[in-house]
Amino acid sequence: MFIRSKRVFIDGKLKPACISIHSGHIGEIHSYTYMASEALDAGNWMILPGAIDVHTHMREPEAVQKEDFYSGSAAALAGGVTTYFDMPCYQAPPTTTVGALSEKERLAAAKSVADYGFHLGATNENGDLIRRLQPPSVKAFLSDTHSILSLTPSGFERHCSGLDKAKPLVVHCEDRVMAEKRAAQYKTHEQIRSPEVALSSVKFAAALGKKYKRRMHFCHLTTAAEIKAAKAGSGFIPVLDKKKKGAPLHTVEVTPHHLFLSDADLERLKGWGMVNPPLRERKEVAKLWKSLKQVDMIASDHAPHLPADKEAGAAGFPGVQTMVPLMLHAVLGGKLKLEEAVRLFSRGPAEAFTLQRKGRIAPGYDADFIIFNPQENWNVNLNDLHSKAGWSPYEGWKLRGKIIGVFLRGEQAVWDGEMQVRAGFGKPVQRLPMIGTERLDLRKHAKERYSLQ
Ligand code: DOR
Ligand code: ZN
Ligand code: ZN
Repeated sequence: MFIRSKRVFIDGKLKPACISIHSGHIGEIHSYTYMASEALDAGNWMILPGAIDVHTHMREPEAVQKEDFYSGSAAALAGGVTTYFDMPCYQAPPTTTVGALSEKERLAAAKSVADYGFHLGATNENGDLIRRLQPPSVKAFLSDTHSILSLTPSGFERHCSGLDKAKPLVVHCEDRVMAEKRAAQYKTHEQIRSPEVALSSVKFAAALGKKYKRRMHFCHLTTAAEIKAAKAGSGFIPVLDKKKKGAPLHTVEVTPHHLFLSDADLERLKGWGMVNPPLRERKEVAKLWKSLKQVDMIASDHAPHLPADKEAGAAGFPGVQTMVPLMLHAVLGGKLKLEEAVRLFSRGPAEAFTLQRKGRIAPGYDADFIIFNPQENWNVNLNDLHSKAGWSPYEGWKLRGKIIGVFLRGEQAVWDGEMQVRAGFGKPVQRLPMIGTERLDLRKHAKERYSLQ
């Protein structure tokens, strides 16, 4: 099969090209006119690599009234996210055991339409399990919100030393003790969980990351100061080829809501603007935009809650379907370069989480594409959103550009907002081992693989 366009995103630039696809992978990238009569022609629409969202809460099996692997993955796919990572459930049951994780694997295999991975939850007690199991990544909460997933400093340090150094320890940083003290002094959620609360916790985690010289991934950083603190002096993964620089040991994500919303939106959101970490002041948001060069990826922290939950004060926003559209809207508005946006939603997360075959349009990679029309606009309309949340902080926003379709492993998976693939089409992602080894050279691999044809 062949697909072509005058604007295919290859190595950081839009170029005319015709892509050949063999069993879900990209074979060769040819000139635009190659096999013209057979190719599916996307004309002037852009072909961008599928997005990867390393931070979503798909809620199954804990709270399927809010989301499940079908609805959540459909929202992802419709929004150009071809691969997502699901965060641990907090209870019923918490995803902190092998049994709970296998149950999620079973459910996602049956229901997900997009490709997926999981982060296993860390507790103060499961340090031994994680040391023996060595899952590909672990999620740790330093904040107070999350039941048995809320770690003490020593509980966190056990995971810093127990999980293989090359595997990302994914951390939510908010200083519980500091927030509790501030609760006596201040009234609003934003004042209590202030930027200082996040920064203090980032500094604590980063110091341990450096002590153990390990991979650490910092979730949803909200200010330039946190990014600086997370990255300061953390270094890179050693690779065999001394001339090459390995991936950074400490990686950071920012969310769309901390970029596109601020505390100035709280009034409009009428109490539904509650999220952890909270929305920040406009001047912090402006600095966050300026820090994007130091940021490894954008991640949605898709945290669906029903309107009734929001009325009752639940923290979190749905966001997996609007993440890529918002970023591309910003590109078309001149706020950031296309190359930068694509790095943040595709190549950045693929490299940091060492995903095999994801994150680029290049031979040997999975044929995961977003077909994007920069000429058409899209209104964020609840009817078009697949999440069960039933609301969005961006409802009614007019966004520049529109996702026309999405390909996953060579299949036309979404067209015009409609799912074209069945529940269970999604597959678990494969992650490469990293430390001390070169990343597999996929270009070379593809040449060998296809040279016989
Ligand atoms: O606002 C939030 N909601 N922040 C988190 O860290 C968790 C999330 C949720 O699960 O609802
Ligand atoms: Zn979090
Ligand atoms: Zn989260």
